[in-house]
Amino acid sequence: MLVNNKKYWNSYYSKSDKNKFSRPSKFGIFFFKKFLKKDNYLLELGCGNGRDTFCFYRKTKNIVSIDESLQAINKNILLARKTNKNIKFLNCKFENFTIKKKINIVYARFFLHAINLNQENKLISFFIKIKKYCKVKVALEFRTNKDKLLEKGKIVGKNERFTNHYRRFIDVNKFLKKIKKNGCKIIYMKQGTNFSKTKDENPHLCRIVFELWKKIQHIFLHIFPWMLLNFFITKRDPLKQSIHKNFSDPYLPKGPNNSDKLFFRQNYYFKLDKVK
Ligand SMILES: C[S@@+](CC[C@H](N)C(=O)[O-])C[C@H]1O[C@@H](n2cnc3c(N)ncnc32)[C@H](O)[C@@H]1O
Repeated sequence: MLVNNKKYWNSYYSKSDKNKFSRPSKFGIFFFKKFLKKDNYLLELGCGNGRDTFCFYRKTKNIVSIDESLQAINKNILLARKTNKNIKFLNCKFENFTIKKKINIVYARFFLHAINLNQENKLISFFIKIKKYCKVKVALEFRTNKDKLLEKGKIVGKNERFTNHYRRFIDVNKFLKKIKKNGCKIIYMKQGTNFSKTKDENPHLCRIVFELWKKIQHIFLHIFPWMLLNFFITKRDPLKQSIHKNFSDPYLPKGPNNSDKLFFRQNYYFKLDKVK
């Protein structure tokens, strides 16, 4: 389904006080304490009124925050100027955002369920694009398909509902499969209620933090250790040892190094063709 929530979010943020910081979310505080580092280059997607962005600025000064709502971004820019905070607030869709500066951590709260499936796929490609430049951590909090709100609103697709705006309730297992397929390593995950309880509702949410490695880092940290382990296992393989013992080839030179002329590939032992 085509999502057009821009009008809704513009009207929503036009009502908020432009001179006041909004209270940071619980997930924002959790992320600030557990994952955000002083030297991080942070990108926040769908920052809204900047409630979490302004809090993160207390730790890192390298922040870019984007949102497609012009009302929200304009207010954030004014508030940042007034309070002397050097935060880059940009009014754009994440789909149109070009990565110019280093980014090594991405934060998005209540964002994944605000976009459709097509956009979700673009978001994953976007993460992979960032990964090209350095190792990236991604932190998300979103509504799951166990959330009670799924029972309300107009059905506009599987797990998609429209109340006064569009929401897509995420199937966590499907999302996990997708990101793992793209080489993500989950470093934190929790789901349930009581993460963002208000007097009106207690949504079922998922919090997830995962890492994406640069290809070369991925090879060294994940593939190389396995290759090494495989090497030691095959070295102790009894089949290989018996072949070593029993192997006699008149064309091979005599001596203790004959066994070195064998190599192992896909569970078969081969003799090198010409050994001089
Ligand atoms: C549910 S609000 C969350 C706001 C904020 N993160 C919070 O937790 O309070 C979702 C935000 O995502 C923004 N948004 C939705 N789709 C977007 C897109 N494709 N690119 C950038 N921002 C988007 C909306 O304008 C809105 O501000």
